[in-house]
Amino acid sequence: MNGELLHAPVMVGEIVEALCDTPQGVIVDATVGDGGHAAALLEASSRHRLIGLDRDPEAVAVARRRLAAFGARAGVVHARFDRLGEVLAELAPGEPVSGALFDLGVSTRQLAAKGRGFSYRIDAPLDMRMDPSEALTAAEIVNEWPEAELASLFAEHGEVRFGRRVAKAVVAARPVTTTLGLVAAVSAGLPAGARRRSGHPATRVFQALRVTVNGELRLLPGALDQAMAALAAGGRVAVLSYHSGEDRIVKQSFTRAEAGWCSCPSRLPCVCGAVPALAVLNRGARLARGEEVEANPRASSARLRVAERLDAPWRATGAQSSWAPEERGERDGEEVE
Ligand SMILES: C[S@@+](CC[C@H](N)C(=O)[O-])C[C@H]1O[C@@H](n2cnc3c(N)ncnc32)[C@H](O)[C@@H]1O
Repeated sequence: MNGELLHAPVMVGEIVEALCDTPQGVIVDATVGDGGHAAALLEASSRHRLIGLDRDPEAVAVARRRLAAFGARAGVVHARFDRLGEVLAELAPGEPVSGALFDLGVSTRQLAAKGRGFSYRIDAPLDMRMDPSEALTAAEIVNEWPEAELASLFAEHGEVRFGRRVAKAVVAARPVTTTLGLVAAVSAGLPAGARRRSGHPATRVFQALRVTVNGELRLLPGALDQAMAALAAGGRVAVLSYHSGEDRIVKQSFTRAEAGWCSCPSRLPCVCGAVPALAVLNRGARLARGEEVEANPRASSARLRVAERLDAPWRATGAQSSWAPEERGERDGEEVE
């Protein structure tokens, strides 16, 4: 598209296989981004139409241009995925929902965008908002949050090594207004040995800030519940996550749906009458193939989980042979830029 740098979607074949082998209806792409997965899904199946959501207005514009070729089969709206249920009720009232896709995190185009502050490689104001109309920026967190809160967000959302020392160094460097200023403050907080280790020391700090600025983990469980509740029998939800915090939430959400959102205390037998609502289609997370990882480093941290809505299943869920988990080791807790 006019030489634009577009995000390279991850595990496209696996996503198409998972979501097109479902009853006719609407697929909702909750993180449509540049529309790569969406275009592949629409090309692969003429029985489905697609509604894409993104909180980033630039992504919405790119996806609309890219999916225009599919005419009325594709629609893209500017919305956060915690409004998924509302968007479906508005744009597809009464239509069966056959699939939901969540491809979490940040896109390559967002990382490469000059003024947005997502990348530690590009000097820019410390912003990191996916939706620039929202209030909280990375600059506010870095310059105004108490040191202890910085240290705990580095630990929780980035598993940052030497997080307390890094938080102290960031506070000492205030005001920190740019990405490269933050990189310098992070480096100053690390012992010399840690600075020489492989992988850029700022990667996890940037990930932790971005996750916090955009409330990424806070919004995910509710959005997954809305997607699972919207699915028709035989419909599937597929989630691609890129760090362990996200993947844990996906696993927990699927487990709760498998138990029919049972409200009984966990160690006691169920007496609330909950009926399993979902079947998880692969035992562990599925990983990208070696060739894909070689071609697209972002695929190295991708973990795909897929589950199918039960109640009067559209077809038996026995045909799951291709969903065995892979053995390859995973990189834990860190996205790849
Ligand atoms: C990894 S990219 C998706 C790329 C897409 N699958 C493609 O093929 O181009 C993730 C996208 O999700 C969007 N996003 C992240 N959190 C969101 C949320 N809570 N609601 C809606 N969109 C979100 C980001 O703005 C970004 O465009």
